[in-house]
Amino acid sequence: MSGAVPTRMIGAGPAGIAEAAALLAQGQLVAFPTETVYGLGADARCDRAVAALFAAKDRPRFNPLIVHCADAAAAERLAGFDARAHHLAEVLWPGPLTLVLPRRPDSGLSLLVSAGLDSVAVRVPDQPLARQLLAAAGCPVAAPSANRSGRISPTSAQHVLVELEGRVPLILAGGRCAVGLESTVLDLTGARPVLLRPGAVTRERLEAEIGPVDLPDGAAADPQTPKAPGQLISHYAPVARVRLHAGQVAPGEALLTFGPDLRQGADVRNLSETGDLGEAAANLFAMLRDLDRPEISCIAVSPIPDEGLGRAINDRLRRAAAPRPE
Ligand code: TXA
Ligand code: MG
Repeated sequence: MSGAVPTRMIGAGPAGIAEAAALLAQGQLVAFPTETVYGLGADARCDRAVAALFAAKDRPRFNPLIVHCADAAAAERLAGFDARAHHLAEVLWPGPLTLVLPRRPDSGLSLLVSAGLDSVAVRVPDQPLARQLLAAAGCPVAAPSANRSGRISPTSAQHVLVELEGRVPLILAGGRCAVGLESTVLDLTGARPVLLRPGAVTRERLEAEIGPVDLPDGAAADPQTPKAPGQLISHYAPVARVRLHAGQVAPGEALLTFGPDLRQGADVRNLSETGDLGEAAANLFAMLRDLDRPEISCIAVSPIPDEGLGRAINDRLRRAAAPRPE
């Protein structure tokens, strides 16, 4: 469906929100900012709209989607919340945390949203434009990151345009995403919580709230229906190769570095000169895009401390560096 739809970009403001909400109500797609990354939204109750999402992204069908809600009460109409889920929603929503919960039989959600699973992923984003849009739309909004499948998530409206021009009618422009990494995904369908995707809400923070949180058991995962396909090996990939824990930079390589580093130049980006992991996360995807140019064979990446938000950054970098299926 490339090139079929003229894509317009509009700024924040009541007219933009109203138009975006009206498009969603008609079963159309709208890209919008969240605090994590830009999402590509569709009415989560509408099979046709959700199917159009998969088509616009060239996304494999088995990837279930996150349903975005205006508030926790709206999420509770879609999923069964136990005491752990209630507590996390209370203390961490709105925010970059997605909860995988049992899907309510009366949720009214399109079956495509859960891709055949009997669970559903829900989150309440913490971004003013996103919240205004969700309130105005009055429906749950299924929204994967607004990139083509397997590519780097967009953290600016311009990135979305590069990814999806001609594939979506409207991009709501709301500046750069403050967090810059996709939300933490926590599976609460079992007795023990499982951290399916690391993000800005760290495992330590979750454990402080609800006790022990497990990491996914790779061996038990069925590769045909992965619990969190974001966990598939090669993901978030630039076109250039990515080399981790780099010291020296070879000819033809670009450098993505972190912390005090005197190296400079057109092919060098520093995620955070002061060594701030929050700043590094917010810059990660935009800098990978900057360095991903045809003349660059490989992006060398300096070591990033594997603590707190650094774990989520390293998770994304490992996927970007993983061997590609070809
Ligand atoms: O920050 C974010 O979460 C962004 C913004 C737009 O909200 N969205 C996002 O969506 O990253 P997406 O579709 O790119 O990633 C969704 C993740 C995937 O890893 C998917 O496998 C997992 O959530 N997921 C969704 N529903 C699930 C379910 N029922 N069970 C297990 N994992 C699920
Ligand atoms: Mg994604």
